[in-house]
Amino acid sequence: MTVSSDFKAKDAESYDEVADKFDELAQLYAGPQARYLTQAIDIASRKHVIDMGCGTGLVSFEAAATSSHQTTITGIDLSQGMLTQAKAKAEQNLLSERVTFQAGDAEALDLPDDYADGFVSLYAFSHFPHPDKAAHEALRVLSPGGRLAVAIGSGPQLMTRAGTGRAAAAIRRKWRQMRGREVTACDQIDRLVRKHLPPIAEGKVADWASGQRDVVGLLEGLFQAAGLVDCRRDWVGTDHSVPDADAFWTLQSTISTFARKHIAAATPAQNATLKEAFRAECDAVLQANGKLTYSVGAAVISGRKPH
Ligand SMILES: C[S@@+](CC[C@H](N)C(=O)[O-])C[C@H]1O[C@@H](n2cnc3c(N)ncnc32)[C@H](O)[C@@H]1O
Repeated sequence: MTVSSDFKAKDAESYDEVADKFDELAQLYAGPQARYLTQAIDIASRKHVIDMGCGTGLVSFEAAATSSHQTTITGIDLSQGMLTQAKAKAEQNLLSERVTFQAGDAEALDLPDDYADGFVSLYAFSHFPHPDKAAHEALRVLSPGGRLAVAIGSGPQLMTRAGTGRAAAAIRRKWRQMRGREVTACDQIDRLVRKHLPPIAEGKVADWASGQRDVVGLLEGLFQAAGLVDCRRDWVGTDHSVPDADAFWTLQSTISTFARKHIAAATPAQNATLKEAFRAECDAVLQANGKLTYSVGAAVISGRKPH
């Protein structure tokens, strides 16, 4: 795996300018996944929880809302823009005592062993270039008996009820797409970026997570190797219809790491061409009474650290 030394810094920086928009979108579209994670670690019984790659704090605030007033939460992230937004929200909601945010790298945490009895992370692990190190750090800072739940973006496993339902939905969707009746996030923007913007180095999420057949299985194996027991894999997903092209652009240009990084590196003229092509596609679909769809899904790996 080749990773340049500043990959992590650049990845985190790519969020700095979009923290506001990201926060709105996370609340709109990732609530069920955040709730699922806090339930998976049995939040009501936790004393201190770490939220790794916390972003603007969606899971941290969900944990605060569903735990006792004695429970404290530490959100950790590498993006200053995301952390600033998260801290401001903690202050506005009078939660700064219980919910704190700090800069840190998931792969090298400046925290003592056995620091917390809960560890959650939503949509962040696929950004870490060395997930084995991040899994090892997660288990190190978790106290014996502590619970962990980590989610990454994924479809459901094929041989499950959700997997069969999604496969059938995907066939119906393909049919509508072929007839110009549907476009989906974020494959629409990624396809148009490939067509209209020049390629850049390190445009994707971390190498290990792109193009792998079973990313979730790989990550689960890393957690088990790091010491996680009673491991299980679940899936939580929702389909959303987005009302118009502007909202769809904001969604995709913020959420897609691939698009975000390319757009930041492109010239205004190149981005104008991209946006024009994007709008034309959306308008054509809406005029044909079609829909703009965002299908969100996360695989959740959970378990505990043995006593
Ligand atoms: C897709 S966002 C998810 C944010 C949040 N968990 C949510 O779901 O709303 C991924 C986050 O991981 C952070 N991140 C990337 N690399 C990191 C690292 N090495 N250590 C800690 N955080 C990192 C990014 O800055 C970003 O805020």
